[in-house]
Amino acid sequence: MPPPPSNHRTLTLIGAGRLGRTLARLWQDRGTFRIGDVFARSAASARSAVEFIGSGQPLTLSDHPGQVELALLAVPDDQLADAAAWLAEQSGVGPGSVAFHCSGAHPASVLDPLRAAGAAVASAHPMHSFADPAHSLETFAGTFCALEGDDQAMEMLEPAFEAIGARPLQIDGDAKLLYHAGGVFASNYVTVLIDAALRLLEAAGIATPAGRQLIGPLVRGAVDSALSLGPGAALTGPVARGDANLVARQAHAVAIHEAGLGDLYGLLARSAIRLAASEGRLDPEQVRDLESALEQASQPSSMRTPTTQSVEAKP
Ligand SMILES: NC(=O)c1ccc[n+]([C@@H]2O[C@H](COP(=O)([O-])OP(=O)(O)OC[C@H]3O[C@@H](n4cnc5c(N)ncnc54)[C@H](OP(=O)(O)O)[C@@H]3O)[C@@H](O)[C@H]2O)c1
Repeated sequence: MPPPPSNHRTLTLIGAGRLGRTLARLWQDRGTFRIGDVFARSAASARSAVEFIGSGQPLTLSDHPGQVELALLAVPDDQLADAAAWLAEQSGVGPGSVAFHCSGAHPASVLDPLRAAGAAVASAHPMHSFADPAHSLETFAGTFCALEGDDQAMEMLEPAFEAIGARPLQIDGDAKLLYHAGGVFASNYVTVLIDAALRLLEAAGIATPAGRQLIGPLVRGAVDSALSLGPGAALTGPVARGDANLVARQAHAVAIHEAGLGDLYGLLARSAIRLAASEGRLDPEQVRDLESALEQASQPSSMRTPTTQSVEAKP
């Protein structure tokens, strides 16, 4: 790790939840920043954060911050604009102050009230789950951190994140929603796909504890190959083989079982066709066959009719 920056500033923490208290503790332990005012909505929360960090002064929003050298606004995303407006109204913010937030979806400009008060602003999003702050203290090193904002803020934050083991990368503020969506796909939606797989296995008579064990090697293997070989080379299964007949029957069976899962199957199969074709693994005729198989399976009158009627006939 690089040595900590020599000009230790005092960090004011607005919002002392999972992320705020973890970063403050890491900077405190590393000696990068001194920890000053620690604000939360409730006094109990502010006190528990100060206890966790090992330094700082617990305060609530009815108190006022002192001079703000550096402020981290670590409040929930939908509170950022209000927290920025509140802090901008305090007398301690002005030219020379730096303020930043850690939201993945919002650009630095959500802190514009602070910029208008003279502060330099930035956003710094660590690709890390802070669900358990004590655990995060051990696992944070190596985390990629996407930064954007005013030069003066970036000059201070890049070395500060490096000092606690993060790997800073620069991002365009206008691209943050898409950047964040990439993270949502990579984590939240992988979880949703695992849920879909488990529900289909359950429908096939394999209850969930066994289902998790059954798909474990499959999920880990798919993730490992996609990351090491690239998704186009790693894709296996009926679409990559150009097996239009199986895709049609499977899309139909899944849609009959549960319409929502059928829609998901169709969307993902179309994405798989595009991926395999872009890698030259399907010729144009195979692409046409697969697309028409999916089209046919999505027609309510053609393939869904007999079983759908019997399902709907149940009380
Ligand atoms: N958690 C993660 O894994 C993670 C990862 C990357 C980025 N982030 C980002 O980090 C930021 C904070 O997330 P978090 O998960 O740490 O949130 P959190 O655990 O819910 O903590 C939020 C903190 O903000 C305080 N607070 C709420 N509204 C406030 C307001 N209007 N003014 C001042 N303080 C307020 C809360 O006080 P009380 O405790 O008194 O309620 C609490 O201390 C968000 O921008 C989030 O997108 C989080």
